[in-house]
Amino acid sequence: MKMLRVKIVAPAIATMMLLSACGGSGGSEAESEAASEAASAQLPNGMTIKEQIEARQGQLEKVGDAFKAISDQLKASSPDIAIIQEAAAAVPEATEGMADWWPEGSGPESGVETDALPAIWENMADFQEKVGNMQEAAANLNTVAQGADMAAIGEAFKATGGTCKACHDDYRLDD
Ligand code: HEC
Repeated sequence: MKMLRVKIVAPAIATMMLLSACGGSGGSEAESEAASEAASAQLPNGMTIKEQIEARQGQLEKVGDAFKAISDQLKASSPDIAIIQEAAAAVPEATEGMADWWPEGSGPESGVETDALPAIWENMADFQEKVGNMQEAAANLNTVAQGADMAAIGEAFKATGGTCKACHDDYRLDD
């Protein structure tokens, strides 16, 4: 599995830690300066840390919207299968490449607003396994949704939702 490394961020983080360790007046200003330096560090994919974080949040928001669309239809008295199918197809599409959205330095230490917990980088293998579990379940949901068996769709939806929760419980703030 390819992992992104961001050597360039290390000095900014070291500075940030040094500055916060010093404390005193003006410390927080210097701290946020160091954080914004970290946020604008360039990744090998050409994005800055800030752009990478915002891009993944944008993709996950799409996933959340698709999930809500499916959930709404499953609760409806006469579900619209076309809406379910479109939303089910959007999940694998929006989460393609998700394994690469978490380069070192793109946690809260970047100073960018993020709900990603530092535990991600302490347990990257487990985190990546959870990415894979979700992608597998979402691909299955998409396949099942193309049939019109509502009970099967409901099961596949529930299974996929379980893989979202399994990750959020450990690695996302406030969940
Ligand atoms: C492997 C871990 C993992 C999996 C699997 C996962 N998520 Fe998340 N999700 C996260 C993390 C971490 C964040 C916070 C990202 C950030 O703020 O940088 C997040 C954020 C989100 C957000 C908020 C996005 C925003 O900032 O507006 C939504 C919505 C969301 N996830 C929905 C889902 C759904 C639905 C699924 C399942 C189909 C899912 N996620 C699967 C880890 C995961």
